[in-house]
Amino acid sequence: MINSKIRFVTALALVASASAIYAHGDVAPQAVDTEGLKDLPDGKWLSENPYRGNKEAIKIGASAYNQNCARCHGLQAQSGGIAPDLRELGLHYDEYFINKVRSGVQRNGVTYMPAFEDVFDQEAMWAILSYIDKRHYEYKDKDLAELYEKAK
Ligand code: HEC
Repeated sequence: MINSKIRFVTALALVASASAIYAHGDVAPQAVDTEGLKDLPDGKWLSENPYRGNKEAIKIGASAYNQNCARCHGLQAQSGGIAPDLRELGLHYDEYFINKVRSGVQRNGVTYMPAFEDVFDQEAMWAILSYIDKRHYEYKDKDLAELYEKAK
């Protein structure tokens, strides 16, 4: 247990010092199992989170976030400064979110964030946003019950 904690801290230090490597997106993305969530159409991208407040989606999204986004956006979506703090997003930027995740961010031939379009289906992306929604609520000290009520 203590050992794994130490390894974890070391890994974090590596992330900080190797951010230039990560910025090229060289880390293999981890598959996301969205079993249990309502299926969404392939190729027809939604513009609003269909899983908002869904506890199963939040759980799946938390794990997917930690494996694929945390190395840049920070553990529990709390930014360490490498990339924006996603807890700031709130509930009104769904389309912005999905477009960023699909396309990533490239400028002048430099990849700041890898594109996830060919990596995840939209079920996985919306599950991640569901988790980020929850972190937004916690960050802003909002009532989580209100978020869970939004589940369809
Ligand atoms: C290699 C590092 C890296 C990884 C991995 C990464 N991002 Fe990013 N992301 C960034 C950076 C850097 C930016 C800011 C880019 C810019 O300069 O516009 C960004 C921007 C964003 C934005 C726009 C935020 C805003 O406030 O405008 C969203 C949304 C986002 N990322 C979501 C994600 C999600 C979800 C994942 C995981 C599936 C992810 N990112 C994985 C580095 C990363």
